[in-house]
Order: sequence, then structure tokens, then C-alpha cells
Amino acid sequence: MSSTDRPGLNVIGAGRVARLLARCWHEAEVFEVRALVTRRPESARAAGRFIGSGRPATSLDSLGPAEFWMIGTPDDSVISAADALRACGQVRSGDTVFHLSGALAADVLGQWDGANRASLHLLKTVPDAAVAYASFGTPCITLEGDPPAVESLVPACRALQAQILTLDADAKAVYQTANVMLCNYLVTLTGMGVDLYRRAGINSRKALQILGPLMQETLNNTLDAGPVGALTGPISRGDAGVVRQQLELLPPEARDVYRSLGRETVKLAAAAGLLQDSDVDALDRVLADVSRCR
Ligand SMILES: NC(=O)c1ccc[n+]([C@@H]2O[C@H](COP(=O)([O-])OP(=O)(O)OC[C@H]3O[C@@H](n4cnc5c(N)ncnc54)[C@H](OP(=O)(O)O)[C@@H]3O)[C@@H](O)[C@H]2O)c1
Repeated sequence: MSSTDRPGLNVIGAGRVARLLARCWHEAEVFEVRALVTRRPESARAAGRFIGSGRPATSLDSLGPAEFWMIGTPDDSVISAADALRACGQVRSGDTVFHLSGALAADVLGQWDGANRASLHLLKTVPDAAVAYASFGTPCITLEGDPPAVESLVPACRALQAQILTLDADAKAVYQTANVMLCNYLVTLTGMGVDLYRRAGINSRKALQILGPLMQETLNNTLDAGPVGALTGPISRGDAGVVRQQLELLPPEARDVYRSLGRETVKLAAAAGLLQDSDVDALDRVLADVSRCR
């Protein structure tokens, strides 16, 4: 324990998410934030200023003890950062070592002599730590890993008013694939829609202004009624002719996206009882019809 009687937290990779969490935990008096390691010295100093605590460092050699070790590097560097941390020999038996990746399970951290491993995934988009801090709200935090490590992190997550989801290692990659499809590809679809508006002579700014309320209403309906209950549009009405016309005006890459999503939409519309078998057949033919639309 520390001079403040709070457990200590050392941070390896004090980037956007790590500094956001460290600041929230510092302010909630959960952890005493100690060493902050980054590749560039100015980055570690900026992390310290943002968090309001922590000693900037660019080497793992003299971090000092801590009960919790947070690895906040990009996913591709988690394993090498964990290896380097293990090699520096400062993590003690009973400590908790955790990373922040949504895609990786805790076991990528490797074997530790008595320390427990976890993955802690903040289910929030963090393009910038200050922006995400201002809109922190009550996000979901997903925990997975060795039971003692998960248990040790639960109070820290509760202190942030987070909803806690616990997952098995096997489920982690599937869960993160869903997050990517829902959040990242929503952004991609918005970009594709804005491109089409531009073809219709409407600039991006105006397009977003017009599309915003429509997208928000759709999202609200989907969250309220579920995907099956919220569906509208030509597929839900069995309008195969409209679907064909829309496919024909799209460039090839966008057509592939429309076709794949269209086939999934036919399944939803059928599950909602909106389509006759003949509608499903007609839509399936149009959505599979590569030759007519190339
Ligand atoms: N951003 C999001 O929306 C989001 C949301 C949830 C979870 N996550 C997860 O959170 C983790 C961090 O993502 P991020 O977006 O916060 O990344 P980031 O902003 O790019 O920060 C990465 C930090 O790691 C440091 N770093 C890189 N390699 C290092 C090494 N070998 N040793 C020590 N420090 C190293 C970087 O140092 P420099 O500053 O000197 O470059 C930087 O401070 C990832 O696992 C990511 O999947 C991200």
C-alpha cells in the first residue's frame, strides 16, 4: 500500500485510454497513480498533467512497486510490453497485471510468478482522453482473466459507476468483433452515405445535418424495439425492383457492401414476418445477381 493507503497503479503505455482511466481512478481516490511509462518523454509528461498525478518515465527499470500494473499500449505491443515488464522483475506475487484491449484475452500477458492477469476493456470510444473524460457517463467495463485479478478490479470499476460485464477468454474475440461491427462500421456506413449525398449534389456538412436526426431516430427505434422490430425500407416491403435500381447505381465496392447487408436484412425482415416466401426469393435473386449489376 502507499502513503495514501490506496493501492498503487503503475501504467505502461499511458495513452488515451490509460490516462483517462488513471485520471478517473485518481479523482475517485481508488489508486495512487505512480509511474507513467510511454515511448516519448513529452507524452509521459502530458499524461501526468492530464491525470493530475504520476511520475513520468520512459524506461521500466526503476518504476517502484505497485499493486496494479496497467498495460495501455496498442494491441500489437501488449505482448512485448508484458514480456519487458516481466523481465524487469518488479511485479510481485499477488499483484494484478492487466491490459486494456477489447480483442485480446488476459492470457496473452503470459505466465507470471504469482501475479494475476486480467483484461479490462472500457466499452467507450476514446478519440481523445479529454473529450472522453468530459462525456464519461456510466460506460460498460468488460473484465476477463484470472479470477483473483478480475475480483481485484471489480471495486475499481464500481468506483467509476461502470456497468461490469465479465466474460470468458473464449468469448472475448467474438464480443470485440461485435463492437467493431457496430461502432466502427457505423462510422464507415455514414461515410458511404455522405459520399452518395455528395453525388446527389449535397455537401458533407449539409448531409450530416440532414442524416443526423434520421440516424438518431433509427438508433433509438432499434434500441427500443430490437433489430427485428425496427426495420423499415425497401427490403422490409419486399420491393425487389427498388433494391435492383439502388444496386445498379452504386460503384462496385459499395455494391458489395449493399449486397451483403441486404442479405442480412432479408433475414431480419423474414424473421419479423414482413415478407412472403416469394418476396424472399425475389430479393435473394436480386441481391445475389452479380452479372446484371457489374
Ligand atoms: N482508443 C479507443 O477508443 C479504445 C477504446 C477501448 C479500448 N482501447 C484499447 O486501449 C489500448 C490503448 O489504446 P489507446 O487508443 O489508448 O492507444 P494510444 O492512445 O495510441 O496510446 C498508446 C500508448 O502506448 C505507448 N506505447 C506504445 N508502445 C509502448 C511500449 N512498448 N512501451 C511503453 N509504452 C508504449 C504510447 O507511447 P507514446 O505516447 O510515447 O507514443 C502511448 O502512450 C489498446 O489495447 C486499445 O485496443 C482503445
